Amino acid sequence: AIYAPSRVNSRGWDLANRADLNEFLESRGAFAEHQWTAAPILAVEAGSGAAPREVFSPAQTDRQVGTVTDAGEAEARAAIAAARIWDAPVAERAAALTRAADLFEAHHGEIFALLAREAGKCAPDAIAELREAVDFLRYYAAEALAAPASSPRGIITCISPWNFPLAIFTGQIAAALAMGNAVLAKPAEQSPLIAHLATRLLHEAGVPVTALQLLPGPGRVIGAVLTSDPAIAGTCFTGSTATAQAINRAMAEGCAPDAMLIAETGGLNAMIVDSTALPEQAVRDIVASAFQSAGQRCSALRMLYVQRDIAESLKEMLFGAMDALTLGDPWWLANDVGPVIDQSAREKIAAHIEAARRDGRLLKQLDSPETGWFVGPAAIAVNGIEDLAEEIFGPVLHIATFEAGEIDDLVTRINARGYGLTFGLQTRIDARVDAITARIHAGNMYVNRNQIGAVVGAQPFGGEGLSGTGPKAGGPRYLPRFAAAEGPQLDL
Ligand code: NAD
Ligand code: ALA
Repeated sequence: AIYAPSRVNSRGWDLANRADLNEFLESRGAFAEHQWTAAPILAVEAGSGAAPREVFSPAQTDRQVGTVTDAGEAEARAAIAAARIWDAPVAERAAALTRAADLFEAHHGEIFALLAREAGKCAPDAIAELREAVDFLRYYAAEALAAPASSPRGIITCISPWNFPLAIFTGQIAAALAMGNAVLAKPAEQSPLIAHLATRLLHEAGVPVTALQLLPGPGRVIGAVLTSDPAIAGTCFTGSTATAQAINRAMAEGCAPDAMLIAETGGLNAMIVDSTALPEQAVRDIVASAFQSAGQRCSALRMLYVQRDIAESLKEMLFGAMDALTLGDPWWLANDVGPVIDQSAREKIAAHIEAARRDGRLLKQLDSPETGWFVGPAAIAVNGIEDLAEEIFGPVLHIATFEAGEIDDLVTRINARGYGLTFGLQTRIDARVDAITARIHAGNMYVNRNQIGAVVGAQPFGGEGLSGTGPKAGGPRYLPRFAAAEGPQLDL
């Protein structure tokens, strides 16, 4: 289906335009040394008594960015008891979300600074992330206004990951609030400061505190309470497949049988490059798909299949393009690749690369700075997707070759691995595009372009199988899931 955006997407900042560049640098520069604080935001008085913990930048591990006081179990229970559905007319809710979008844009300097400092995001990623958050707010506001009248489900727990600490955090909340639900927002442990700022702006825009409470804290403690309480009507989760499975179990044991779960999870995303592909275009798209955001996107390319006839020349070009990447502090515009999120992420990714090195399968790795949790982008030779035991969430590309007659078999093998998030295809044979896209199991398919950065309203995003439950975020089937089951549904 073709999805018409119901709102124009936000313009963003074009760093090739001098006026935009200056505004970006000046607004962000005002927050260069800022220290942020975050704490639970609740509709009741409750204190866990937890001591604040320090938050450090992943790019400079001795640079403190702020402090956060985590919520405890008692606060989670108090928040559940204090939560109230947002009983305002849909026009009022949509207006508040639209105001929040304007406020997010107005606070762009602080948001860009936080995305660089707390989440390690390079400038283009930070700009894209703010745009996506703003787009979610406006899109769901417009969709709610256009939807048939319905009742909210009740209390929705929103649990988000650190890799889109603003966009996914905001998107989940905006959808639930647009339909009048009460939200308990649990951001990732690694990104509470951004979540705190976003929540304050949503409140400033007019969202009542009883309808939106913030509970930073460890997933295994706070997340577990918020997904197993009988008062919870649903959970909207984005994160790893393993955590989604744990939440599914917790909800099955604790919540009502009709409680809703939306889980958007990881992927082992493949790209097939055949011998008719344009090599320069393929290389540019492979580099962006595998290494932008330091590979920390659920959509990122993990498994590249290259037709044998062009494999050697394509790899040579690819490794040359990798050499042109600069790694370093995302604060500086010259850097293309920032750090991974924390020490445990770096250790896990480094161990995977080291195992490949020991086996003689490491084809290429860039050096990385020692100042933070950096991992040099790497390419590893494998036989195929079956060799990938799990999603390695970092700048690591696995490469295999195939013969001309094996393409159908590749599709079967990719599908058999069980994930289904993004898929890329580089070819100039139209019939091949039709044949492969008809068979591949993937939520988002990209032909002759990179496979990251789905655009709200234009490219609804989400996967199938081990990659998620659907419906797709930023698309017309998302909001109806937040309406009470007995309420009228959109006619899709
Ligand atoms: P994660 O699963 O470790 O954590 C995600 C969230 O779940 C965090 O807020 C965490 O505190 C919470 N959590 C952890 N254990 C919990 C529990 N038992 N109960 C309730 N909540 C719990 O994932 P992550 O490392 O933060 O994020 C990276 C993962 O997210 C990757 O697998 C990536 O592919 C996936 N992701 C998917 C999408 C998508 O749209 N499909 C988008 C971004 C990221
Ligand atoms: N929506 C994000 C992307 O497409 C995850 O990269």
